[in-house]
Amino acid sequence: MNTQENNQKLTLRSGGPAARIAVIPGDGIGKEVTPEAVKVLRAVAAAGKRRMEFVEFDWGADKYLHEGVSLPNGAVEMLRDEFDAILFGALGDPRVPSNQHAGDILLGLRVKLDLYVNARPLELLHERLTPLRDRTEKDLRIMVFRENTEGLYAGVGGFFKKGTPDEIAVQEDVNSRKGVERIIRYAFAYARQKGLKRVCMSDKSNALTFAHDLWQRVFKEVRQEYADIDSRHVYIDTLAMEMVRDPRQFDVIVTCNLFGDILSDLGAQLAGGLGLAPSGNIHPGRTSLFEPVHGSAPTIAGKGIANPLGSVLAAGMMLEFLGWKTEADAVHSAVREALFKNYLTPDLGGAKKTVEVGDWLAEFVAQAATT
Ligand code: NAD
Ligand code: IPM
Ligand code: MN
Repeated sequence: MNTQENNQKLTLRSGGPAARIAVIPGDGIGKEVTPEAVKVLRAVAAAGKRRMEFVEFDWGADKYLHEGVSLPNGAVEMLRDEFDAILFGALGDPRVPSNQHAGDILLGLRVKLDLYVNARPLELLHERLTPLRDRTEKDLRIMVFRENTEGLYAGVGGFFKKGTPDEIAVQEDVNSRKGVERIIRYAFAYARQKGLKRVCMSDKSNALTFAHDLWQRVFKEVRQEYADIDSRHVYIDTLAMEMVRDPRQFDVIVTCNLFGDILSDLGAQLAGGLGLAPSGNIHPGRTSLFEPVHGSAPTIAGKGIANPLGSVLAAGMMLEFLGWKTEADAVHSAVREALFKNYLTPDLGGAKKTVEVGDWLAEFVAQAATT
């Protein structure tokens, strides 16, 4: 990107004329929840007299099966240079058991756009949503930072004697000094910036004596620069238990790619379920990607009952990333209000359809702006 383009991009990010958003609904319920998030974004942008432009891309299982194309040539450069952010749905289709297209598109974008921070906030928005006894909203508010470009997801490995009784399958855990350091640093910097007091690094260094020894050494080094933050290490197995036993112990958690994946689904359920959990795949200052944590949920796809709140909250995270704090807060308030009023899909005990919830949220943000 040349300097002129870069400046142009910074202007857009700082709330200039228009934000350009690439929309990739993907497969299954991704196609149902993403339009609702766009609907809410349009409403909140109009209410704040902001301009947002949306360009939709049909990348997903259908295209892959019909055209053999997963992530089109030139897609990465186009997203990087022509868009400020990406709103993503979900990928995964029973007709593609290898999940090849999802690997190419979602994992491909995370790596090729170098979106090294996977921010997955766990926030209990209404106390009745948690399966934990005697816990209320103030007891569960954790930001999980998942390393998003390497680890066991690096795709390094192979088969030996595949398909024979002597087959061997190897999948390497790739941890670079740079990769580990930047995510740990990001977690500490975030805690300091948000006035949060505690950072917990989680690994499995007692068993993974090479890969996670590196995490240990980097963590010990970086924490020295953050004496104002109470930093601690907890092994991942214990952390899974502690999050259930007493989630009040944690403000910020930082961990590797695979552990972050598992922990974020566990945490999502503590806060009400996958239908509510948002995430941001971020490289500070560059085009970043926002998506619900959940997948394409094939068994409920097409029924119009998928919960759009995770996608809407991810859109809210995108607004914050774009620097539109007022609009981000408005989206968050609308979701809380829907929970409060029980205007919800069946997974949360409601009787509303996906589209009805989206309409209600869009109406709410529009009304809120006029009162
Ligand atoms: P899933 O998240 O799709 O579904 C898990 C469970 O949660 C299901 O019972 C589903 O019905 C429910 N659920 C999820 N989102 C919901 C919503 N918004 N509203 C109501 N209920 C919801 O996970 P899975 O079943 O393990 O995977 C299905 C497919 O999705 C697979 O192909 C998987 O690889 C893919 N996947 C994609 C992503 C992604 O694109 N980021 C994430 C996870 C899984
Ligand atoms: C997620 C998903 C993906 C992941 C899958 C679809 C590859 O589970 O975004 O949490 O493991 O990162
Ligand atoms: Mn996952």
